[in-house]
Amino acid sequence: MLYIIGLGLSDEKDITLKGLEAIKASERVYLESYTSILPHVSCESLSRFYEKDVIIADREVVESNSDEILRNAGSVNVSFLVVGDPFGATTHTDLVIRAREMNIPVEIIHNASILNVIGACGLQLYNFGQTVSLPFFTETWKPDSWYVRISENRKIGLHTLVLLDIKVKEQSLENLARARKIYEEPRYMTVSQAANQMLEIEDLRNEKVYSPDTMAIGVSRIGSRDQKIVYAALKELAQADIGPPLHSIVLPGSRCHEMEIQYLEAYRQH
Ligand SMILES: *[C@@H]1O[C@H](CO)[C@@H](O)[C@H](O)[C@H]1NC(C)=O
Ligand SMILES: *[C@@H]1O[C@H](CO)[C@@H](O)[C@H](O)[C@H]1NC(C)=O
Repeated sequence: MLYIIGLGLSDEKDITLKGLEAIKASERVYLESYTSILPHVSCESLSRFYEKDVIIADREVVESNSDEILRNAGSVNVSFLVVGDPFGATTHTDLVIRAREMNIPVEIIHNASILNVIGACGLQLYNFGQTVSLPFFTETWKPDSWYVRISENRKIGLHTLVLLDIKVKEQSLENLARARKIYEEPRYMTVSQAANQMLEIEDLRNEKVYSPDTMAIGVSRIGSRDQKIVYAALKELAQADIGPPLHSIVLPGSRCHEMEIQYLEAYRQH
């Protein structure tokens, strides 16, 4: 059996009892490491807690070497751990399709994902539109297709969850060109960087999708005990420091109940 297990968003204890049992009954345990992180644990503490070796599966392994993950999973149990929910922000449908092709049974064990935990900011989940991902800009590369998605959401009054880029195991252009397997330090986009990038694109495109005064919500480490929620204008978020990763932004749409605004006001920084 291949178990694909959601770890929730905070620490090693967020896993469900079902998930823990599956890990204990597994011969190999992989941790998907490229789309998210748990703010409060390292791979070693997961290993200790599960009493199992945990093998880090980076993008390379998952995308080009999934057969290694699935090796003999027809006869032994293999667990594939995903931060958040297996079908949350990053779907692992490709791994499931590959397992099906190999006639390996698959069981999914869910847990909380950013897509539902974001409800902690008080906005109705029903009124969220398309989720967007904001990539790190470079001097020459400033992709802005997300701007159109935000615009579509806002036209019909829906909220937008903006997920922020993370870069783990990236190679510098030079190392890439020389095929040197040297990797940069992981980088996690902050709310402040994101707000700046969003304002930069609004400045360039000037379609008035939002403005520096548009109220938005910056969240960090949502789902864990030290989560932070800040309700402020984008220009204020552009200056805000809300601590260690992971960060996300929500742009509330106009379809906001009075009570939702009242709830948000508690996160206002003065
Ligand atoms: C995630 O795991 C926690 C801890 O075991 C559990 O209380 C919670 O219900 C799970 N969440 C989901 C969405 O399954
Ligand atoms: C696989 O997991 C199931 C359920 O946890 C368990 O009953 C079974 O014995 C495990 N199989 C092997 C080969 O360990």
